[in-house]
Amino acid sequence: MPKLNILFDHMRWEEKALYTACEKKGVDFSLVDAEKIFFDLTSNSKPKEIGDVVVQRCVGHFRGMHATAALESYGVPVINRYSTAELCGNKVLNTLIFKRHGIPTPRTYMAFTVDSTLDALQELGYPAILKPVVGSWGRLVSLLNDRTSATVALEHREMMFPLYQIYYAQEMVKRPPRDLRVFVIGDDVPVAIYRVITTDDWRSNTARGGRVERCPVTDELRELALKAANAVGGGVFGVDMMEEDGRLVVHEINSTVEFKNTVPATGVDIPGMIIDYALREAKR
Ligand SMILES: Nc1ncnc2c1ncn2[C@@H]1O[C@H](COP(=O)(O)OP(=O)(O)O)[C@@H](O)[C@H]1O
Ligand SMILES: [Mg+2]
Repeated sequence: MPKLNILFDHMRWEEKALYTACEKKGVDFSLVDAEKIFFDLTSNSKPKEIGDVVVQRCVGHFRGMHATAALESYGVPVINRYSTAELCGNKVLNTLIFKRHGIPTPRTYMAFTVDSTLDALQELGYPAILKPVVGSWGRLVSLLNDRTSATVALEHREMMFPLYQIYYAQEMVKRPPRDLRVFVIGDDVPVAIYRVITTDDWRSNTARGGRVERCPVTDELRELALKAANAVGGGVFGVDMMEEDGRLVVHEINSTVEFKNTVPATGVDIPGMIIDYALREAKR
């Protein structure tokens, strides 16, 4: 049996659930703390803690990406692959992939200065949404009602790290007060949830109080989720979608997906399925 590692930096509900799933299945595995290991980048000897397949679970996006690159250099399969995680971790690359593969997605512009972003927003129309290129949990995802609120948000962004001056502006989709999170594990779409807005926040992330309700996995939903997953190279994902005039649009695809709200609400064994998938990948 292949030896599996769960590479983590913060022990969340998800990492504990993956651990428990391995124990239940009798998998040969260990937890590896990314903060306690080091990588010899110029040799082919992997860290002694690393076995045959790694489930990458670092919260830190850049940390996870760099660890994955190093692990792949030793020939160790990582869930998800570096090339996949890179596409998923960046909303500009997400959007470009969706365009290339004909996946319906909200109209989106990119610009690099305050003035050019205001020009883009004028063409896009208000209300619009400004998002950081790298980020999650709805953090800094800002609703811009007009040019005045746009100017304020952009002025704040100007004070941040240069990545925050890659301005990603998106049309506000006229959706019901919820969005969809669709789980993909390999070729399977085991479960989907609605995230229903229950607070005065306009964002539906569960990190912002979005309430989880099970969403039936229709053929349309399954096909679209798998199309998005295959477009980034396949693996384990949370595909975020919104309903607009009776059709679905995909606004992002997440790697290193969280499931602490979905598992209790639906009873679907996402961690067990991820471990099974990783073991299958190890044997390929
Ligand atoms: N174009 C949009 N129109 C309407 N609501 C949106 C739009 N984009 C995002 N949202 C809302 O904001 C939330 C966070 O946006 P998202 O792009 O998923 O960023 P994050 O990576 O931080 O989760 C979504 O779950 C959704 O509720
Ligand atoms: Mg999201």
